[in-house]
Amino acid sequence: MADLDAAWNRLEAAAKAAGEKRIVEMFDAEPRRLETLTLDVAGLHVDLSKQAWDEAGLEAALDLAHAADVEGARAAMFGGAAINSSEGRAVLHTALRAKADADVKAGGAPVMAEVEAVRARMKAFAEAVRSGEIKGATGKPFKAILHIGIGGSDLGPRLLWDALRPVKPQIDLRFVANVDGAEFALTTADMDPEQTLVIVVSKTFTTQETLANAGAARAWLAAALGETGANQHLAAISTALDKTAAFGVADDRVFGFWDWVGGRYSLWSSVSLSVAVACGWDVFQGFLDGAAEMDAHFRTASLEANAPVLIALAQIFNRNGLDRRARSVVPYSHRLRRLASFLQQLEMESNGKSVGPDGRPVKRGTATVVFGDEGTNVQHAYFQCMHQGTDITPMELIGVAKSDEGPAGMHEKLLSNLLAQAEAFMVGRTTEDVVAELTAKGVSEAEIATLAPQRTFAGNRPSTLVLMDRLTPRTFGALIALYEHKTFVEGVIWGINSFDQWGVELGKVMAGRILPELESGAAGSHDPSTAALIGRLKK
Ligand code: F6P
Repeated sequence: MADLDAAWNRLEAAAKAAGEKRIVEMFDAEPRRLETLTLDVAGLHVDLSKQAWDEAGLEAALDLAHAADVEGARAAMFGGAAINSSEGRAVLHTALRAKADADVKAGGAPVMAEVEAVRARMKAFAEAVRSGEIKGATGKPFKAILHIGIGGSDLGPRLLWDALRPVKPQIDLRFVANVDGAEFALTTADMDPEQTLVIVVSKTFTTQETLANAGAARAWLAAALGETGANQHLAAISTALDKTAAFGVADDRVFGFWDWVGGRYSLWSSVSLSVAVACGWDVFQGFLDGAAEMDAHFRTASLEANAPVLIALAQIFNRNGLDRRARSVVPYSHRLRRLASFLQQLEMESNGKSVGPDGRPVKRGTATVVFGDEGTNVQHAYFQCMHQGTDITPMELIGVAKSDEGPAGMHEKLLSNLLAQAEAFMVGRTTEDVVAELTAKGVSEAEIATLAPQRTFAGNRPSTLVLMDRLTPRTFGALIALYEHKTFVEGVIWGINSFDQWGVELGKVMAGRILPELESGAAGSHDPSTAALIGRLKK
């Protein structure tokens, strides 16, 4: 503990010192900077050289990782120890992408036989739906899937579909998550129940939104096909197999997973069955294989050369060393446009904690706000604030080196913007440079005095760039696994349990209390504002 406190102190001091330097000048002062801070892993090129740390800062960050025993925690996770201590569960989403013969145990019990059995059922089901062997109630093949789920039962599969979907899919895939009926209505308006397979995805099978949408979908199917017909169009994914049976899904249409897979880590499981059907099994298998490659790297590489560890340390350097309380993730890829939404759950649900597993308050800040959207679109939206706002927000920029999609020439334009932004964030633009340009244009001295400061860019805004060779199932799997392990490492260093989510419970309980009040009128006890709003809605 003393070592850990001392390591934190060293990190904070090193960050203070580095924060007074200019990142761009660190390249001259540190001849090996680029080499030390770039890595190639599983088809991803990770460049951390534009981050705010100097050599001493990086060293202090690595010391902190050693002092927090990231290596020990990593071994405990892969070894199937119950590291989700508040729920007494192992954390083994990595088993879902491991080879069938891998030796993986949860609390001492081997898991791979079960994992492989579900994978084999998923594969057979995906192939049978695609070939038309599994048909709808009227004998027609399925041409669409309606995936119903929320949070971890939605964000991952949605991102996966966008990232890897064919341009013209044989089977269309739609998603419904929100309990706002508008989403259900808009999504199903042009769907044909006769040729739609509904897959209900809920780890717990108790989630209000999902059960409401599942009920709506069943009614939508039954209106066209009758109750018995509707059953032939249903499949379910859950760890609560008793509840899926009670909902009326036939046993051979239910695909399980395990309590050692957290919702936000579940896209490697049967939770993504809809994507495996709509993209084909090989695509899904490639996705698992890419993640397995990242797992092998994370598990075996030294902390100094470990991509998830270094990305986590850059975040901790910014967050705790330099007090930067947000981070923006911007994929220069339309297919990855939902990455930030996925990461919001992965990082903020995992690490948005204020106490450790011992119940004591943490001593330092934990998860930051993460936000983002696709480049170049964001350049025309919030990037003004990123370049010239009063707060510095570290960035993660993600690019795809090669793409054959779309008209010729567009991809180069996309990439030029990506590189330009990363350079501009770091280098900025000096007042002298602006003055020289305005002077050359013949602008008056008085105007220059007011214009030059407005057109100056301070720069020195840190960013990490992740360049994927191509966006393939493998590289995409590696990218998501990279973020999962990054989140884990941060949680270890912050001293929190990244695998529970008690903070989402209170709102659910209170909504459960308010619903009957809105429906029947018996008023409960509330604060004045909430009571007034309930009264207003009842009128
Ligand atoms: O809202 C919290 C949460 O429990 C998430 O952690 C989870 O991904 C989501 O709800 C959906 O839960 P389920 O898959 O059990 O329906």
